Amino acid sequence: MSLDRSKDIVCHCSGTTKTAIKGLIDDGVDNVDEISRLTGACSGCGACDVLVLELLAGNIASRGD
Ligand code: FES
Repeated sequence: MSLDRSKDIVCHCSGTTKTAIKGLIDDGVDNVDEISRLTGACSGCGACDVLVLELLAGNIASRGD
């Protein structure tokens, strides 16, 4: 079984994956600007902004902040 990386992509402009963003969040990154700076996500068309915010919000909710 192979991993279909295309299904993991959050930002098609930069090719940034959900796995990569979750990894940064797990490492303590807690804002879109930093994720954008580190990955290039949210720095093109902006279509992924909501998805990145949802990933951040999900992490904050799971921490109980
Ligand atoms: S899809 Fe992320 S900036 Fe375009």
